[in-house]
Amino acid sequence: MTLCCLNGVIGPVSEARISPLDRGFLFGDGVYEVLAHVDGVTRAKQLHRDRLEKSLTAIGLSASVSLDTVFSDMDRLLAASGLQSAKLYLQITRGPAAERDHRFPRAVDPTVFLMASPWSPSVLGPQAAMIAPDIRWHRNHIKSISLLANVLIQQQASEAGAIDALLHRDGWLTEASTSNAFVFQDGALLTPPLSEQLLPGITRHLVLDLAAAQGFSVIETEIAIDQLPRADLVMITSSTRGLVPITRLIPDQIIGRGHVPDYFETLQSAYQRVLHAHP
Ligand code: PDD
Repeated sequence: MTLCCLNGVIGPVSEARISPLDRGFLFGDGVYEVLAHVDGVTRAKQLHRDRLEKSLTAIGLSASVSLDTVFSDMDRLLAASGLQSAKLYLQITRGPAAERDHRFPRAVDPTVFLMASPWSPSVLGPQAAMIAPDIRWHRNHIKSISLLANVLIQQQASEAGAIDALLHRDGWLTEASTSNAFVFQDGALLTPPLSEQLLPGITRHLVLDLAAAQGFSVIETEIAIDQLPRADLVMITSSTRGLVPITRLIPDQIIGRGHVPDYFETLQSAYQRVLHAHP
């Protein structure tokens, strides 16, 4: 039984109820976070909290939400669930309104939904990805719950046998539909710079630090999508998938030598140590 906490009330997710007039349901008017809780520790909590605050500010919702309450509800939910490792989903919408109206309601009563699903992190081996145009909106730095474009892209990728799609705008890599994207090339780790085109991933942040500490030259730069087949390795990252090596582009291109180089395994081990560390 998966437990959730809806507006401060903990119970089975199957029994939680929201109004059909909730603006998250009607308009996708809300933001979210996904956090990894591993070995009894919620990982990178402050980084997720900071990003959530930025997302709330970007949509004009921060004044209506107490993040102290949200995060203490998260701790209460975890305690009630008894889970040592879990995937935590946190969603805040602009709440229900009296009627369907695009404009913000005068009195906003946000809906705060937290869910703790049983999960444990796994380490994925080499994967295939596809390339697709980035058909999303122009504010991808906001972790918006309006994910229809991402859903369509991820479905297309999955039907093609790919773990995700590497997205490009006008020929330039942005990220993937559920993760950030990186290229290893001649001993350097490259990734597109932060902008409104991509999510400032928490795993991206951690990986750039770890890679620099391991002696990679870390370069945040525009990457032409045509460059991917000539890379030594491509990598995608997210809080739930961790670091995933991409050695093949669907339909039939091999990246680098088609296998995972040793330096990737070293970076992976460093990330696994951080993920399982006992502070
Ligand atoms: N997705 N880019 C996009 C578009 C994402 O949806 C995600 C995460 C990331 C990686 O961010 P982070 O390292 O902070 O998890 C990048 C989550 C896991 C999801 O939607 O389920």
